[in-house]
Amino acid sequence: MDADIARVILPRERIQARVRALAGEIVASYGPALPSLTLVPVLSGAIIFVADLIRELPLKMKIALVHLSTYPGRALRAGEPRTILEIAGELEGRDVLIVDDVLDSGRTLRSVQEMARARRPRSLRTAVLLRKPARGPRDAPVDFVGFDIDDLFVVGYGLDFDDHYRNYPHIGVLRPELTP
Ligand code: IMP
Ligand code: MG
Repeated sequence: MDADIARVILPRERIQARVRALAGEIVASYGPALPSLTLVPVLSGAIIFVADLIRELPLKMKIALVHLSTYPGRALRAGEPRTILEIAGELEGRDVLIVDDVLDSGRTLRSVQEMARARRPRSLRTAVLLRKPARGPRDAPVDFVGFDIDDLFVVGYGLDFDDHYRNYPHIGVLRPELTP
């Protein structure tokens, strides 16, 4: 796997430190009366991020998975998000935090946010590990961002290319000859 990576842009230690700080920002945003959250991780990209994030969140929480797919196979640009699994849990009256790996065009998140809002949560916030400012909408509807990165296709720490590299521990860029 290492041989396929041209360049690491975020080593695992930096990600780990940022995830810990992000958890602090999330907790602080709810004020002193800590809520019982319902996290909505967007599969499959958010799996590693959410696993690390929740262990830094000292809150009572439930998890309601949702699965959207945007990438037809080896494409590097997202198509229309397709719902594979509807949000699997009750959101009505709950404090909901959507968690995704990356905000690119913003279509995936907007679609999850619409699904969540329709279930009448008490509050709705969104955390993403990565944001690509070059492509994300200016008024991207996210509350917490781990890192702003350049407009690069990246893999690792949950992010895939053709469903591979999710287990690569750092975030990096593939060798150009491996992508279309
Ligand atoms: P959006 O709908 O364009 O914001 O796309 C977001 C989704 O596309 C994310 O949830 C990721 O699954 C995927 N995605 C976007 N950029 C990348 C990338 O650089 N590497 C891997 N997956 C990505
Ligand atoms: Mg994803």
